[in-house]
Amino acid sequence: MTLHAPVTMGGYTARGNLFLAPVAGYSDAAFRSVCANAGCDLAYTEMVSSEALTRGSVKTNVLLERGEGEGDYAVQLFGSDPDVMARAAELVARRWEPALIDVNCGCPVPKIVKTGAGSALMREPARIEAIVRAMTAAVTVPVTVKIRLGWDDHTINYLDAAQAAVSGGAAAVTLHARTRAQGYSGTADRTAFGRLAAAIPVPVFASGDVFTAQDAVDILGVDGPRAAGVMFARGAMGNPFVFTLALAALNGLPEPVIQPADRLAAARRHFRLSLKLYPEHSACVEFRKQACSYLKGIRHGAELRARAVACSTAADFEDFFRVWDPSIQNLG
Ligand SMILES: Cc1cc2nc3c(=O)[nH]c(=O)nc-3n(C[C@H](O)[C@H](O)[C@H](O)COP(=O)(O)O)c2cc1C
Repeated sequence: MTLHAPVTMGGYTARGNLFLAPVAGYSDAAFRSVCANAGCDLAYTEMVSSEALTRGSVKTNVLLERGEGEGDYAVQLFGSDPDVMARAAELVARRWEPALIDVNCGCPVPKIVKTGAGSALMREPARIEAIVRAMTAAVTVPVTVKIRLGWDDHTINYLDAAQAAVSGGAAAVTLHARTRAQGYSGTADRTAFGRLAAAIPVPVFASGDVFTAQDAVDILGVDGPRAAGVMFARGAMGNPFVFTLALAALNGLPEPVIQPADRLAAARRHFRLSLKLYPEHSACVEFRKQACSYLKGIRHGAELRARAVACSTAADFEDFFRVWDPSIQNLG
């Protein structure tokens, strides 16, 4: 039996249950395209400001670009005003035709929380309901939400928040199984996925410490109520192959061998796609951190990282890729 299964959310069925999470500064069209190539079933854009969108900010448009060969994708919006979120959803649905529109109820960054958006919404389940209700009235695209366990250890309320979202019309709920107070540290509480799945009538997606193919198998394979899908976030950075490995593992197939040359090819393609999205200088500055993620755990990683962070032009990066070439390294 395969654990890799389609997931239906309202009128949309994702072909499988391996997702790339919304990750600010990482999940742009270039990286989503690389992940799609590696086997990701559906990827989310990073969070996009509903205020900026409705004000017509051109800068947000690049966040909404579809990746090359990506097919379906999901757009995540953040905001706290139901009317603005509904107008932003309408705009996105009309112009970018995503498969889903997701509401960010998890971002812990003070700048966002201060405006009542992101994880501040965990303190106001009624507002989550109002936002989702306004959005589902404005668009036919399914609306989903991404929540946390709660604000902190004393206010664990993911069941209430998720139920509020479902009452508003949410077609799926992703749970990042940490509190706002935890940020991105401490361990995610996996037991919460099953509890949430048993409590609401829509699919639940698991986020938090999903780093390996085995994590996907463990989360999707448990007996009893369970998550319908898993989201890779930090586990996919510089490691799109985690989708290839997870897909094989969910199908009970032998572990595919990822060669050093595959890693280099993915990074090179990622960089070339970034050049199509951004002006050369910003593409290069942005790609420094991406390059460092691809270099984690490889031979000569420290030297190569030092080179990557000094790259400022496309030509610098092409030189960097030549030095990285695993066949050349093996000669040395
Ligand atoms: C740098 C960074 C940026 C993130 N940006 C977003 C975002 O824009 N929207 C969102 O819902 N979650 C965001 N997240 C949270 C991830 O989607 C995910 O829920 C979280 O990293 C937990 O998964 P992990 O422990 O497997 O990394 C971000 C996480 C990180 C580390």
